Amino acid sequence: MKQWMRRICGAMVILTFCRASFELAAEPYPGNEQFSRRAAAEGMVLLKNENRALPLQEGDRVAIFGSGQVDFVRGGLGSGDVTVAYATNLLQAAFAARAEGRLQLDTALAQWYLANPAVELTDGQLAEVRQRSDVALFVLSRNSHEGDDRSPGEGDYQLAPAERRLLERLAKAGFRKVIAVLNVGGIVDTNWIDEYRIDAVLFAGLPGMEGGPAVMDVLLGLVNPSGKLTDSWAVSLAAYPGADGFAASDDHVDYTEDIFVGYRYFATFDPARRLIRYPFGHGLSYTEFVLDDWSAAEEDGAIAVEVTVRNCGGLPGREVVQLYFAAPSGRLGRPALELAAFAKTKLLAPGEAEKIPLRFPVAQMAAYDDQGHSGHRHCRLLEAGDYRIYLGSSSWDAAARQIYCHRRESLAVTEQLTGYLAPKELPERLLADGTMEQLPVQPPPPPPCLPVRPDDCTRVEAEDYAALTGGSWLEYFYRPSGESGCCVAGWPDAGRKMIYRLEVAEGGRYLLRLRGANGNAEPIADALEIAVNGRLQNVTVASPATPGQWHEFIDLEPVEIELPAGRVELQLTTKGYCPNLDYFLIAPTAYREKLLACAGWPVAASGVRRQAQERGGRPVMFAELRQKPELLDEFVAQLSDEDLIWLVGGHEPNVWGGTGTIGGLEAFGVPALETFDGPAGVRLGRGLTTTQWPNSTLLASSWDVALVEAVGAAVAKEAKYNGVDLWLAPGMNIHRFPLCGRNFEYYSEDPLLTGKIAAAMVRGVQRHGIGVTLKHLAANNREKNRLRADSRLSGRAAREIYLRGFEIAVKEAEPWCIMSSYNLLNGVETAENDELLTGILRGEWDFTGVVMTDWGNNSRHDREIKAGNDIKMPAGVPDCLRAALAEGRLARPELERSAKRILTLILKTGKE
Ligand code: BGC
Repeated sequence: MKQWMRRICGAMVILTFCRASFELAAEPYPGNEQFSRRAAAEGMVLLKNENRALPLQEGDRVAIFGSGQVDFVRGGLGSGDVTVAYATNLLQAAFAARAEGRLQLDTALAQWYLANPAVELTDGQLAEVRQRSDVALFVLSRNSHEGDDRSPGEGDYQLAPAERRLLERLAKAGFRKVIAVLNVGGIVDTNWIDEYRIDAVLFAGLPGMEGGPAVMDVLLGLVNPSGKLTDSWAVSLAAYPGADGFAASDDHVDYTEDIFVGYRYFATFDPARRLIRYPFGHGLSYTEFVLDDWSAAEEDGAIAVEVTVRNCGGLPGREVVQLYFAAPSGRLGRPALELAAFAKTKLLAPGEAEKIPLRFPVAQMAAYDDQGHSGHRHCRLLEAGDYRIYLGSSSWDAAARQIYCHRRESLAVTEQLTGYLAPKELPERLLADGTMEQLPVQPPPPPPCLPVRPDDCTRVEAEDYAALTGGSWLEYFYRPSGESGCCVAGWPDAGRKMIYRLEVAEGGRYLLRLRGANGNAEPIADALEIAVNGRLQNVTVASPATPGQWHEFIDLEPVEIELPAGRVELQLTTKGYCPNLDYFLIAPTAYREKLLACAGWPVAASGVRRQAQERGGRPVMFAELRQKPELLDEFVAQLSDEDLIWLVGGHEPNVWGGTGTIGGLEAFGVPALETFDGPAGVRLGRGLTTTQWPNSTLLASSWDVALVEAVGAAVAKEAKYNGVDLWLAPGMNIHRFPLCGRNFEYYSEDPLLTGKIAAAMVRGVQRHGIGVTLKHLAANNREKNRLRADSRLSGRAAREIYLRGFEIAVKEAEPWCIMSSYNLLNGVETAENDELLTGILRGEWDFTGVVMTDWGNNSRHDREIKAGNDIKMPAGVPDCLRAALAEGRLARPELERSAKRILTLILKTGKE
């Protein structure tokens, strides 16, 4: 684990140990674990099945190969993990199936793998296995986690050399059939499937705690696979449009492929289908379906389709019907295929048929014109021409079956929007004809300068930096006193830089006093180099060993520096181990006494006391507000600034592994909502075990909104059961490129599927009084340098791809919360992005809930509140807000606005 991660985790562990109640013993909600097995099996995708190699037949003597059968991956790591009481791997499930008389298993090989999962079999051993068995089952397992991306190399995207050797030997050993199970969170190389003549392949995702049994259910035919891919599986990583730029720069990613993400790209630019191995929407079954008797018509501004799906094979099964459209290219240029609607049949008995209705608004086919090429800038519109509608059971299948054509004689504007989120530094983007369009580039203005007073003491918050380089970062934490704050961490080695831009009214000698926390056993004699406009100052910054933690700050001895008048760049560079910095004070040398006396911002009394002291009145308590929500304005008006500041920052969790609380203003009886992580389930801490569900991609691969809604309801019941209130899920970023380390937490490369699945999840969860938090808004599609990387994309790509899923979920399911993302979006921190959070989210989509930051993001608390990000998690920065209020950069009504949203959220949960 990286040092900084260890430090943050260490702090969290200390906090959770301090606060957690030892009596708590979390448990899965009765029945959930078994349900997770069904949900996992429903999402599994049968990629290939030559000669009906699957399901396994009576008489098949099965030998299982690969360490993945033992080191089976139940889920990804990080917030997308869950603490479970047990997890059943594939081998355990195989033993259970054997005990039930359903599977002839090579138990000798199984015992060998149990003892030596990582050791390669000898030729002699393999020959013996071959004599005992005729079916080889190979398990490929991969994991990934937040904070880092996957590797394109061997052992991750590619097979490891040992896996390759094993497959080569299995191919030569003459097994009657070779079957592969992909226990992976996302796309892996699949060239080896044909190379080693694998007969059948099952994509099993990261199927959760009951994953082993779920895989067995499918392999044995107890569940007929009905999942469909939610991504395009290409022949190589290089085939994906984002390949070149994905990891090219540390500090930004150019989304030059624009709207051509996933199958939109392949359908448009690879019509001969050379680049795709398994297309979007693909998935086989053990039975056969035919689609017939379709009809299509236009009704009330919608395309309405009906189709009969008939099971004409020999086993019961389910099919997913997919409707796509191809819009006329016109002036804007359109992808050759876009998903319009989908539905899944019930379980159809052999011979049974079901009529499936599908419907979508014509306006859904509109494109967004960000440059005005159509003559209608910032509008969603339908250009004149033929809109072809396709029906099928995969994107490829559908492309061959046009069932309708919607013809438009003239252009129609469907929505007048705004030019929000225009890129400033994206140089070009791909057009539908394969050429690149040059875009206007406007480098962002330099960050504003901080005024330094000539006659007083100026306080500069460490997070008001203009730039952090060399590995410095910003950190948020809980102070043991219950206060919270943030600091720039320059720790732990030389060369880390923090740069501040100052506006100095009068040049001269100034004193600089840093507030730092060493947190080291040893004093630091010479911690920092200080340069002013590049000129090194002759100072020595000493930091005594501070007692306690790395966030218990003390004021260091002032040092004297020379500041010229005008714009000044102050640069602090670590010389080695360096204290964390909370803020620094600057004052002309003549104001030494004032500087030494300067001690932070005054902390005002709570409104409860003010009520009692000033008005002698009885405060409106939260219990009363619960009865009469119309008292909200009055309730908020009585709160002091300090109370408001308390509300707009997160606080310590009360449950083990909880991610922090919201509310908890005890003086007014406001309860604290316990947030908890997802999306793999109710994630609590060590010892608190709950249900681990299949990972998001696998769940979405079911293409079954009713199933997802039921999973949501089950998660909510488990949350209620365990006394937690607000789920930090679903994750719904787009699968832009296969190597994003968190793709396993997200649904798909397609925004419509993402939005519909997320909406179903939201409905399921919130129906039971638990809140959801859609995350991470928006364009959080890479983990490398995730706190500082800028996602540069066009307004069109934002609206058609990266925001679209969120828009669908907001409009269809009214989520109570949304989490802004770590990354910047076109040069602006998403949590400070007024156009995103107020203009689009609230202005255009009518979102009325709470926006929270991601945990320990990099942006400034006062700017977040102004932009419409209501709460900073896991902790606010009270001093930053006090200063902003005092200096008029933030107005009390802005704080009240966020406080009201937070209180309304708490009311919605019904928490006492
Ligand atoms: C993740 C979020 C998560 C939060 C709380 C962050 O690092 O990006 O998805 O919900 O931590 O654990």
